[in-house]
Amino acid sequence: MNGADTAFAPGRVNLIGDHVDYVGGRALPMAIQLGTTVTLAGRGGTRIRLSSDAVPGALDVAIDADPATVDPPWGRHVVAVLRELAISAGGTGTVTTSLPVGAGLSSSAALEVAVALAFGTDLTGLDLALACHRAEAAATGVPTGILDQLTITSACDGAALLVDCRDLSTRAVRLPDGLAIHAVHCGESRSLTGSAYASRRTACEDIEREIGPLRDATMDDIASLADRGRRRRARHVVSEIARVGDFTDAMDAGDLDAMGHLADESHRSLRDDYEVSSVALDAAVERARRVPGVIGARLTGAGFGGCIVVFAHRDVDPAEIGGWRLDASGPARRIPPAR
Ligand code: GLA
Repeated sequence: MNGADTAFAPGRVNLIGDHVDYVGGRALPMAIQLGTTVTLAGRGGTRIRLSSDAVPGALDVAIDADPATVDPPWGRHVVAVLRELAISAGGTGTVTTSLPVGAGLSSSAALEVAVALAFGTDLTGLDLALACHRAEAAATGVPTGILDQLTITSACDGAALLVDCRDLSTRAVRLPDGLAIHAVHCGESRSLTGSAYASRRTACEDIEREIGPLRDATMDDIASLADRGRRRRARHVVSEIARVGDFTDAMDAGDLDAMGHLADESHRSLRDDYEVSSVALDAAVERARRVPGVIGARLTGAGFGGCIVVFAHRDVDPAEIGGWRLDASGPARRIPPAR
C-alpha cells in the first residue's frame, strides 16, 4: 500500500448518451472541475471516522461493517470501497466537496474514487473504475452502469471522453472553440435508490431477450416489438446511441448548431420515450433554451431531478444561464503533501 492520504476526484457531466451505458452503448461524458476531496489526518485502527462538509452526520464505523447497514448513508460508499479493495487499516479525516450532492453530477462515484485513492490503492483507470463500480452496487443496491466511475478515473484534461461501454475503451474528444458548458440545478434533488432506474434497466433486459442486444438493434428490430411501451424504451436507447456518434462528429467538426439540436432531441427522447425527466427538469431546460446564445439543453445523468446540461456560445454572460460554467478536468488523483 502506498501512503497517500489526500485525494481529489472530479464529478462528471454527461454531455450526451444517457441510459445507454448498462446496455453496452456509447456515451460522451466530461469530468469537471467540481469534485470531492478526502483528507486523512491519521491512519490505523479498525474504525473509519470521517466528517463531511456537505452532508450532516459524521461517519464512525468499524471498517468491516456491512456496507448496506451503515449510517449515515453516504458512509455506505466509503465502507463498500474499502471492503472491495481489501483495505484493513482504518483512518480519520474529512470529506469536502464542491459538487452538489444527488444532482446527477456523480457525487457518489467521486466519493468512492477519492476514498480509494486516499486510503491507498495501486489500481488506476479501468481497474479502479470497476472496483468502485462494484462498491457502488454493494452500497446502494442500484444496478447502475460503469459510466460515472470510468469517466472519473480515465478523464482527459481539457477534453470530453467518448466511452464505449461494450469494450470499456475511451477516447478523448476535444471541445470546440467557442463552446460554453453549464450545469444548472433544476431545484429538485434525486436519489436513484427507490427511483425507476432499476426498472428501466430491467425493461432493457426484457427487450434484449426479444430482439437481442440493443447496442446492435435497428429501428426495424424495434418495430417488431409487440408492446408499445417497450418500443418507446428501445427507441430511446437506439436513437440515443446514434446521437452520441453524431454529437461526437459535430464536436470534431466544431458544428455547435448540430450539437445543440442533438442535445434537444436527446432531452425529448429521455422525457417522452424513456420517461426519466420531471416537471422541474423540463422547466429548467425550457428556461435555458430561451436565453439568447444557448444552443441546446438536456437533462444529464439518470434524470428524476438534479441537473441539466446547457450548451451555449462562449460569449454569453454566464450569469444569464446560471449554475456552474464547467471546465474539463483530468482524472482523479492523489494530492502530494504540501512541503
Ligand atoms: C447514473 C448511473 C450511470 C448511467 C446514468 C444515466 O449516473 O450511475 O451508470 O446509467 O445514470 O446515463
